[in-house]
Amino acid sequence: MSIEISKVEMDEELREVADLAAEIWRECFPGIISAEHIEYMIEKYQSYHAMTEQISNQGYSYLAVRECGKLCGYIGIKPEDDEHFFLSKLYLCADKRGKGIASAMLNRVFDEARKSGKSTVYLTVNRHNDHAVDVYRKTGFIITRQSVADIGNGFVMDDYIMEYKL
Ligand SMILES: CC(C)(COP(=O)(O)OP(=O)(O)OC[C@H]1O[C@@H](n2cnc3c(N)ncnc32)[C@H](O)[C@@H]1OP(=O)(O)O)[C@@H](O)C(=O)NCCC(=O)NCCS
Repeated sequence: MSIEISKVEMDEELREVADLAAEIWRECFPGIISAEHIEYMIEKYQSYHAMTEQISNQGYSYLAVRECGKLCGYIGIKPEDDEHFFLSKLYLCADKRGKGIASAMLNRVFDEARKSGKSTVYLTVNRHNDHAVDVYRKTGFIITRQSVADIGNGFVMDDYIMEYKL
């Protein structure tokens, strides 16, 4: 298994990540949120235009995860102004799960956070996304609080906020 995790620099690569994001979100979120909610969130947060705006104006970076050169996952991160480092997105294709790639992805996030001089990595995860919550717990994240955020169009994000001390 040859895993490469690299910062998305090229416009074309960001379009590839957006296509993969839509594919993964439509696969992993049914049963957790509605189809309408999934499409709304893809457009609002993971479309090419949304991610371009996040990178250009909101301090986000995206990392592409490739196995033997083929895109199979992605990571979204953002250093905050204080000691926090936001792990915004951690997504892997279904057929690549359970192979140790997630741990490599999380280690890369921790490295990026350390490089930014941050002491705490935090994330939001849907309260019903049991597998992801288990993975984060196993990695050493702890649930610090719950958050219900109105994201418009009648949809809410019903999340745990989890933190990892570096
Ligand atoms: C979240 C995600 C990236 C995790 O990747 P994954 O390949 O499924 O994770 P793994 O099965 O390799 O598990 C990662 C680690 O957690 C451990 N783990 C998994 N489930 C566990 C459980 N129920 N109890 C304890 N440990 C568990 C694994 O053993 C593994 O540890 P190891 O690498 O030391 O062996 C992936 O499932 C995914 O993309 N899911 C869909 C998108 C998503 O929900 N993203 C998160 C949104 S916040």
